[in-house]
Amino acid sequence: MFKIGVLVSGGGTNLQALIDSIKNKYINAEISLVISNKENAYALERAKKNNIDFKYIGLKQFSSRMKYENCIIESFRKKNIDLVVLAGFMDILSENFVKAFENKIINIHPSLIPAFCGKGYYGIKVHEAVLKRGVKITGATVHFVDEGADTGPIILQKTVLVQDNDTPEILQKRVMEHAEWIILPEAVKLISENKIAVENNIVRRIK
Ligand code: GRF
Repeated sequence: MFKIGVLVSGGGTNLQALIDSIKNKYINAEISLVISNKENAYALERAKKNNIDFKYIGLKQFSSRMKYENCIIESFRKKNIDLVVLAGFMDILSENFVKAFENKIINIHPSLIPAFCGKGYYGIKVHEAVLKRGVKITGATVHFVDEGADTGPIILQKTVLVQDNDTPEILQKRVMEHAEWIILPEAVKLISENKIAVENNIVRRIK
């Protein structure tokens, strides 16, 4: 069985989209462990309600970032995780972590990379910047995680129209509902079925 480990920090709606996609058999996999770096993340409640193993692992519990990240790495390794999914995870992982799961970490970002991404662009801040710039189309991106911030090979993207009276909150909800919650399960399904490959930093379908 294809085993998924999920890193979360907040409400866990992307985690819920994965849980639902497994329940309705769109994805043939199991979520073996959910780890949050925030103790009160509602995402942990979602894991609990769905009988999925969950853990809080926070940087402040450790004397160094290396020990914090190694604890996450060991927790996933013990579960023989095949894919690490960053689902609303609000922390930048070091090269040490990325190398531990080379080409096996994906992230959902709430914009059309390379727009509105990188340092400082996360969560609601992305949508605030989109509205400030006045772009008419935004969306979400699923990408492999490499050593950079939102710089790994792009797997899937989905567009969302910006509307005249959008607030950052309204736009965020539309991007989540009409883009994130669709392409994250789709990307996990493609990877679990070994249907994509990365060549020269470009992701392509192989079957
Ligand atoms: C949201 O801003 C979403 O766009 C981004 O992470 C934040 C929380 O997502 N991916 P979630 O509800 O915790 O999945």
